[in-house]
Amino acid sequence: MAEKLVLAGPASEELGRSVADKLGLQMLNAEFRVFPDGESKFTLNDKVSGRSIFLVQSTYQPVDQHLFQLFLASHHLSEEGAKVTAVVPYLAYARQDKEFLPGEGVTLGIVAHLMRSAGVRRLVTVDIHSAEGLALFSFPTYSVSAIPSLVSYARENLGLKDPAVISPDFGGSKRTEAFAQLYGAPFLKLSKTRDRTSGEVTIRDSSLDVKGKDVVIVDDIISTGGTVRAAAETVMKQGARRAVALCVHGLFVGSAVDSLEKASVKTVVSTNTVPGKNGVVDVSDALASHLRTLEE
Ligand code: R5P
Repeated sequence: MAEKLVLAGPASEELGRSVADKLGLQMLNAEFRVFPDGESKFTLNDKVSGRSIFLVQSTYQPVDQHLFQLFLASHHLSEEGAKVTAVVPYLAYARQDKEFLPGEGVTLGIVAHLMRSAGVRRLVTVDIHSAEGLALFSFPTYSVSAIPSLVSYARENLGLKDPAVISPDFGGSKRTEAFAQLYGAPFLKLSKTRDRTSGEVTIRDSSLDVKGKDVVIVDDIISTGGTVRAAAETVMKQGARRAVALCVHGLFVGSAVDSLEKASVKTVVSTNTVPGKNGVVDVSDALASHLRTLEE
């Protein structure tokens, strides 16, 4: 069986080390560098022929640089004879998985194509935006769920009273429903629409059973915070006692967290697929458990 090693890319140094510790694997000796003009460089300091490498690199901002570092490392490792599994905790461009408006490029398809050209043999990610996106890849792909970890965090830390779990839209509702079932709380769905040109989010008012309840808004991604803010305003207007927001990938663009706090979402929590002060739910156990099941 090929010896397995972990390479943590610059976007996931801590998470990569933690996954390696949990799997009892050595870290590969390699260096990533970014020059003052923005160019990236990758240097491999180990022999990797015949080895199986878990290359852990999330692709949050700067998105294209983090992706390119993944391509550079993967290409070099596979040219040197290693089998590369890309472990991409947050997979950028997963929301661009189809042509929503005529003429739009399916960017996730290009990412899939580039990964394959760069020698990636398997992809492991965490809660991909939509499972349909995985069909764009022509090699084995796996999406690991962070929902059980978010449920444990909520149980141990949020002190929820009479909770209701809400999905801000229909698209991600399966994931949120899984959270509600595991937590053992009622599940409700809002109906969100986003203007595909301006990006503006609207939530259709419908009567919800949230009076006096602690409402947990669960989404896969918080980017600008617009979706969660609109959901929180809706449930607070309908008499909820408290709104908290949990997500898998906390991109938190600009002042997203502040603007959520102003909209009375006092608790905003994400996993560490994207590192940051709100990224307190660790996905290294979930990733390690999945990676343990992979042959070579
Ligand atoms: C969209 O369908 C996703 O599930 C999220 O709801 C969305 O990406 C969140 O973006 P924002 O925080 O900018 O509203």
